[in-house]
Amino acid sequence: MRVLSGTQPTGRLHVGNYLGALRQYIRLQDEGNECFYFVANYHALTAMRSPAELAELSRHVAMGYLSLGLDPQRSVLFIQSDVPQVAELTWILNCICPMGLMEKAHSFKDKVARGIAPNLGLFDYPVLQAADITIYDANLVPVGQDQKQHIEITRDLAGKLNREFDREVLVLPEPHILPEVAVVPGLDGQKMSKSYGNTIEIFQTAKQTKKRCAQIVTDSTPLEEPKNPDTCNVFALLRHFADETELEEIATSYRAGGYGYGHAKGRLAELINERFAAAREKYAELEASPDTVRDILREGGRKARQTADATLARVREATGIVTTY
Ligand code: TRP
Repeated sequence: MRVLSGTQPTGRLHVGNYLGALRQYIRLQDEGNECFYFVANYHALTAMRSPAELAELSRHVAMGYLSLGLDPQRSVLFIQSDVPQVAELTWILNCICPMGLMEKAHSFKDKVARGIAPNLGLFDYPVLQAADITIYDANLVPVGQDQKQHIEITRDLAGKLNREFDREVLVLPEPHILPEVAVVPGLDGQKMSKSYGNTIEIFQTAKQTKKRCAQIVTDSTPLEEPKNPDTCNVFALLRHFADETELEEIATSYRAGGYGYGHAKGRLAELINERFAAAREKYAELEASPDTVRDILREGGRKARQTADATLARVREATGIVTTY
């Protein structure tokens, strides 16, 4: 299977990104699929206006993938903009994309509803995503539930191009919708998300993690009184990090009383720090060796361009777009 997915470099990677997506991406690699993973910096440009931040976060996301187990010997890791061919395919897909299909897109409508002044890039975002997916002949696209419609749009556009030009030019991808991991809650109990400012970052010090865990919102039940694990934000996060036996023990302590939220927060921080200790070490190594990271991305970009060029040649041929170089 050719697997492909992208991550927008709009924020630092957090526990929710890991549990919801990144860990499955690595698993698909480890199961022996041919994986293409990229940093979607063209997509991020629909919203970001600090060049320094966009460049920095692009490297951050790439280093994050590598630290969490992406193996550049087995998977292709690259920056979207190392394959500008994708912008050409976007244009061609734009020319077959009905306006109505874009006007129905949830993510666009949601952003407008939240008061974001829409630019044309934001409107066209799903077409760029369709180009991302089809230019690499991807069969399987692992994404969160919120991206389901984007994969459907991709299938629509690929099928439409094939029909209108009467050839099997583009591969129709299947979505691989990642299980919701029972929604990873953030510090305030809402879904963990950069836009809510409630995240626990992966790549920070053990001390920072501890401080962040201490900020998780809990009720004011006094230490000695019994507590309900099922309504507690700390416990909801512990579910993702403690093993079954320990989770049972902690639940029992909650119900018995004499066990405070402070204890649970401290334990959660320890478990998070243990889970990411190796990845953090790897990240520090990569940070100290920017040339290594650049070389990995450069090589990934080279491989990605090879595949993209072949697809684009088919598309130009099928559509009658002539080039003379
Ligand atoms: N839109 C995706 C997100 O926000 C990121 C993305 C861009 C993507 N291009 C992609 C995901 C192609 C899968 C395939 O999560």
